[in-house]
Amino acid sequence: MNKQQRRAVIAGNWKMNLLPNEATAFVETLKPLVAGCGCDVVLCAPFVDLQAAIAAAAGSKVKIGAQNCHWAASGAFTGEVAAPMLRAIGAEYVITGHSERRALFGDTDETVAKRTRAGLDAGLTVILCVGEYLEQRQQNITVEVIRMQTKIALTGVSREELARVIIAYEPVWAIGTGLTATAAQANEVNKAIRDLLAELYDQATADSVTIQYGGSMNAANAAELLAQPDVDGGLIGGASLKTADFAAIIKAASI
Ligand code: PGA
Repeated sequence: MNKQQRRAVIAGNWKMNLLPNEATAFVETLKPLVAGCGCDVVLCAPFVDLQAAIAAAAGSKVKIGAQNCHWAASGAFTGEVAAPMLRAIGAEYVITGHSERRALFGDTDETVAKRTRAGLDAGLTVILCVGEYLEQRQQNITVEVIRMQTKIALTGVSREELARVIIAYEPVWAIGTGLTATAAQANEVNKAIRDLLAELYDQATADSVTIQYGGSMNAANAAELLAQPDVDGGLIGGASLKTADFAAIIKAASI
């Protein structure tokens, strides 16, 4: 299976931005802009915006996801949100392992694996984020780091379940910095992830997985990144907060 047969997915990660009414307005503005687009469109909203976004997106191309989930289905975990709760309100996606969760909120490869498992068990599609720090790139261990993060996160994930996993390669040094991996750097790591998937599963399965790039992707650089043979979409932070920019990236992915 080649790139043309894989699902291209453009996902926005709003992070801790937008009030519920702003989420509604954003989705309403975006819907007509993406009605005929040739890729899947996802917006990952703050928990309290989810219901507003889901209601606004109903019946459209736009799908809604969360940015994190706990690994337990319920229990004494003050302040946390469980994956079945997300599914119950109509969320379809959840991000796990975002570098901000790893760096600022103590997520480890092990907890990312547990959150991924919980998302899959709840019936969500998981957008699993992996990425190296600048020092790791400079030490020439990027591929090793990415392979380890991916392998641990996918522990126990079956071939069938992998159909509901999207992997987002997000070099930490490129997130929110305005620095973007070159198209060649992005493709090299995405290809390394696909090679790992072929080792863990098989080549046909690996070829079917959507592998995104994220890190300062914007309307200006999206087309070149998305043209790479192993870059099947993007996870967009800053540029997903502006409908025109986000729609332009979606257009670039639809060609
Ligand atoms: P950015 O964020 O596009 O603002 O760099 C990407 C991300 O964190 O997913």
